[in-house]
Amino acid sequence: MARRVLILGSTGSIGTQALEIIAGRDDLEAVGLAVGRDWQTAVAQAKGFSVGTIAVADEASAAEAASSFDGTVLSGEASARELIGATSPDIVLNGIVGAAGLGPTIAALTQGIDVALANKESLVIGGELVTELASATGARLLPVDSEHSALFQLIENEDSHAIDRIVLTASGGPFRGRTDLEGITVEEALDHPTWAMGGRITIDSATLMNKGFEMIEAHHLFGTGYDRIDVVVHPQSIVHSLIDLCDGATLAHLGYPDMRVPIAYALTWPERAEVPVERLDLAKVGSLDFEEPDPDTFRCLALAREAGQSGGIAPCVLNAADEVAVAAFLDGRISFSDIPRVIESTLDDVGSGPARGFDELFAVDEASRERASEIISGRS
Ligand SMILES: NC(=O)c1ccc[n+]([C@@H]2O[C@H](COP(=O)([O-])OP(=O)(O)OC[C@H]3O[C@@H](n4cnc5c(N)ncnc54)[C@H](OP(=O)(O)O)[C@@H]3O)[C@@H](O)[C@H]2O)c1
Repeated sequence: MARRVLILGSTGSIGTQALEIIAGRDDLEAVGLAVGRDWQTAVAQAKGFSVGTIAVADEASAAEAASSFDGTVLSGEASARELIGATSPDIVLNGIVGAAGLGPTIAALTQGIDVALANKESLVIGGELVTELASATGARLLPVDSEHSALFQLIENEDSHAIDRIVLTASGGPFRGRTDLEGITVEEALDHPTWAMGGRITIDSATLMNKGFEMIEAHHLFGTGYDRIDVVVHPQSIVHSLIDLCDGATLAHLGYPDMRVPIAYALTWPERAEVPVERLDLAKVGSLDFEEPDPDTFRCLALAREAGQSGGIAPCVLNAADEVAVAAFLDGRISFSDIPRVIESTLDDVGSGPARGFDELFAVDEASRERASEIISGRS
């Protein structure tokens, strides 16, 4: 019987690639789709994949969808969560962008359903509570982020005591090598050298916040202390991550950058699927480069490491402030170099402390967004 897959964020970069994988396989079936507001694409996808139920978070867009779709349309911010109960999937692919992805991750794990997790914000915001929830219900978190998928595959067959260090690779983004980030335009920041992704993660890759989020994500997924998580800049994005073992061996995961590989791995795990991607030709690649990251210029990387080390609510504040700052940069309201300033001030103002429950995290998320917005609009 085909594995029933629920795709959250089906119109996004991850969601459309997940549907491409499903289209080529008899053992995977899409049973539901959730989107933010792009109802036209969602309805077209539902018709193409014979999906009977979709969720649209924006209520006006959901009403439009309902008038042109014969199936069921769930509406509102909670609709992606409700879709899980309505479709009884075997696995939820969470490709929603931002904090909006946390609720559906909690809902799936609570029901004991495995989550193929692209929405790294689920672990950045609620890492401690999310991993506790997964172990309580026995549901699995299968990483979709390419670096974490690589680490998952490298670590899977190793004794955790044998792993000395994990190393995340970072492309360095379009501004690698620069020591001055003033005057950068939106167009320049959206021009990622190796990966084609959604807008927010592309800006996060340019500031290196994305790599900071990935350190936090790796800490929670693999239980590795921050002192044993390193980042190395690798502009070709061919090596997806590495682990150092106690006997001096280092294992790496390689391939051309293509998200269909980790998406397929998460959806078909523990089997490996045939994925029609270009095979790596190292002789053609010629050489691979590696360099130290520059956290003095790319402040977001340092801010993320500090927030991760503080734990509790700090990573939640970090993510909320970053979401608000990146949106303001994309709208032309702040400059690229203002992004870390807004985040740092929000972290200072909202403060730190333990994360006692999901409700508290949602409240901290809201308070941090408000504070970041005030900082951006010049109110103190
Ligand atoms: N893209 C990559 O290669 C990549 C790699 C690793 C990890 N990730 C992670 O994967 C996640 C998605 O990234 P992406 O690049 O695919 O983003 P994206 O292209 O911007 O797509 C985001 C998706 O989320 C949907 N969405 C937004 N708000 C929603 C809500 N409240 N409820 C339901 N759906 C909502 C959007 O729907 P609408 O179209 O209707 O707005 C869209 O389908 C992010 O957490 C990112 O960090 C992405």
